[in-house]
Amino acid sequence: MKKIKVQTGGKLYLAGEYAILEPGQTALIKNIPIHMTAQIAPADSFSLTSDMFDYSVDLTPDPGYSLIQETIQVFADFLAKPIAELAPFSLSITGKMERGGLKFGIGSSGSVTVLTLKALSAFYDLDLSADMLFKLASYTLIKSGDNGSMGDIACIAYNDLVAFTAFDRQKVRDWIISDSIQTVLAKDWGYKIEVIKPALSCDFLVGWTKQPSISKDMINLVKSAIDKHFLSQTQKQVLICKDALLAGDKELIKSSLESVSDLLQGLSSAIYIDKLKELKDASQGLDVIAKSSGSGGGDCGIALSFSESASRELIKRWQNSGIEILYQEKWS
Ligand code: PMV
Ligand code: MG
Repeated sequence: MKKIKVQTGGKLYLAGEYAILEPGQTALIKNIPIHMTAQIAPADSFSLTSDMFDYSVDLTPDPGYSLIQETIQVFADFLAKPIAELAPFSLSITGKMERGGLKFGIGSSGSVTVLTLKALSAFYDLDLSADMLFKLASYTLIKSGDNGSMGDIACIAYNDLVAFTAFDRQKVRDWIISDSIQTVLAKDWGYKIEVIKPALSCDFLVGWTKQPSISKDMINLVKSAIDKHFLSQTQKQVLICKDALLAGDKELIKSSLESVSDLLQGLSSAIYIDKLKELKDASQGLDVIAKSSGSGGGDCGIALSFSESASRELIKRWQNSGIEILYQEKWS
């Protein structure tokens, strides 16, 4: 058996962040082709290496490697085999999604789970659908206490721009305790993942604040402010934006993204830190919509720009504010 290489990309929220923590809400999440790589090969014994750490481990529980180890355990449970009966491998993960020790904020703990599952399924010759990858990764993360919506996982598993409608994670958490993994995976969790192909031409731009923010902490800080009004208004605008992307309706895309951005600004002052305000304000007077992405408090913001000159000017303004262009893509 030879060495197998698999990859996963990053993700960024276009709309619906925070609201997506509530079942039934929808978010639009864009894949970002900046990758993490896993190499997996047969070995005499299990060995795990990640460039996040300066040491390797076997399957003896290690705090740094706990999520990777948990993912392997879930995968073995999924195969209904004890780990000891699996052919041993060495797994090596690279691509920290950071520069100079500062993370980009386009990945998540979720990325490593999806990546590990991709590597394992390739190694053991199992063809997992994007949907099964999503369910298995979400299962692993919920089991290990992750407090996120799993929207990141939907985007990373499908590796595309998706409209994700959230499921009831507490219900799945209860099933995990009471039922076998096979039973839990066979159930309808009640989420929806749709791949969205935008029908208009524009530039999609990612600005990086270089100020790392931790989503888990941001969720704990902001979550009590999420109320019915925020949820219903965000849902309304996200659905408008989704339809507008499919129909190529520029004005509706701009107004709906502007509205969800205003709603985020009203939700908590922790979201639009100064750098993200600058990132957004840089769109003033241009045929551009810019907003914070994801948890806010740092990391990245996104923009859609509808002319080349506007993109050039936006990029110049961002650079003057010390905001780095992390990624840019043409939609056509
Ligand atoms: O900052 P990010 O890209 O990890 O996004 C967080 C989005 C939240 O809705 C705030 C949390 C979540 O898990 O959905
Ligand atoms: Mg973030």
